[in-house]
Amino acid sequence: MQARVWLETYGCQMNVADSQLITGVLRRAGYVIAAKPEEADVILLNTCAIREHAEERVIGRLGDLARLKQARPEVKLGLLGCMAQHNRAALVEKAPWLDLVAGPDTYRRLPELLGDSGFDAAVDVRLNRAETYADLSPDYASGVRAYVTAMRGCDKFCAFCVVPYVRGRERSVPPADIIREVRELAARGVKEIVLLGQTVNAYRFAEVGFGELLRMAAAVDGVERIRFTSPHPSDMSPAVIDAMASEPKVQPYLHLPLQSGSDRVLAAMERGYTATEYLDLVARVRTAIPQIALSTDIIVGFHGEEEDDFRATLDLMRTVGYDSAFTFKYSVRDHTRAYRLGDTVSEAEKQRRLNEVMALQEASSLALYRATVGREFPVLVEGPARRGIGMLAGKTPQYKTAIFPERAGVAAGDTVAVRVASATTHTLTCTLA
Ligand code: 5AD
Ligand code: SF4
Repeated sequence: MQARVWLETYGCQMNVADSQLITGVLRRAGYVIAAKPEEADVILLNTCAIREHAEERVIGRLGDLARLKQARPEVKLGLLGCMAQHNRAALVEKAPWLDLVAGPDTYRRLPELLGDSGFDAAVDVRLNRAETYADLSPDYASGVRAYVTAMRGCDKFCAFCVVPYVRGRERSVPPADIIREVRELAARGVKEIVLLGQTVNAYRFAEVGFGELLRMAAAVDGVERIRFTSPHPSDMSPAVIDAMASEPKVQPYLHLPLQSGSDRVLAAMERGYTATEYLDLVARVRTAIPQIALSTDIIVGFHGEEEDDFRATLDLMRTVGYDSAFTFKYSVRDHTRAYRLGDTVSEAEKQRRLNEVMALQEASSLALYRATVGREFPVLVEGPARRGIGMLAGKTPQYKTAIFPERAGVAAGDTVAVRVASATTHTLTCTLA
């Protein structure tokens, strides 16, 4: 009988894409996907290490699974991904009943590693500078949108961030392999491709940079929309801005992680830009792509952040006017450059600053979402809306969620024109135009 595997995914979009790769690898090795963990022979968690909170969630889940394993000792339990890489020693010590601990560059070997683990846990956390999994097709989820990995790892080493240590050095997938995947997805009816990478616009393979890759993806027939995540401000080259401005399929939405608006903090974070340089980039992007929507990531309470640094972040957020933002309290991560600096902002103060950035962002989102009332947008239909009977949902080019009434003949994968009737901070309620 075929072994059944259950895989849970935590963390970012890269992990979601990696889980599709893992499922592909295991399925080709003869595994089938279990309907629930209780029915699985192998249970795997693909984990995140970006903040302590992410790790705590997984530790909690491991507690549940340990009980499941007590009842059924033959079940194999494995921890994959960034936390496996980050905490391997502690994990093997604290959770000796784990059968497998495997980092992000070892997924090709998973069938072998699972076969090996008899009594001792199989541990493989070797990072591999050459591993791009370019030849392995993931099990893509069904739907109108698919995420295609363009590059892996990160060479930026921002002082707060564990990613370069757990995902390893930057490496790009050969363009031919990316375009082959995009063609296959288009042939299966996928309309929107999201190119993925930790610093996706740092993409480079021989003479092909990210601007060129965007143009190559846009040239694939059947693909209607191209997006990408996450870019780094320092890699927003003129070629990338040009491709966004001149390729109609590349959508007018840009996630541009700011982290802080204070030059002192940006320098301590080793982000590689100043507030002025960031604002200059925003101005160039807006000149080239006037209809663009911007989102960002903000960290509050980094080592040494004083009230006036924090105020500078709020000021910069007001100046830019983001359509949306992901906001985080600084979480000290070992291995990182900032680890030895320690935590200087109390938890209560971090929470106060977080509340303030979140309130500012809510107001900014609401204003920008409301400003679209009365305007018309093409929306790629994804399916039924989560709320609202008889409503369909999809995204505008600016990646705003739009909901609108069903109509006979309108189905997932179609692009329809809608007119915005009302708006909240997260949703545009529309009529068919
Ligand atoms: N603490 C808080 N937030 C962090 N991020 C990355 N590392 C940390 C950390 N140690 C945030 C950054 C990044 C996003 C993916 O997660 O804002 O852009
Ligand atoms: Fe982390 Fe900085 Fe790399 Fe982003 S660019 S993954 S924040 S080190």
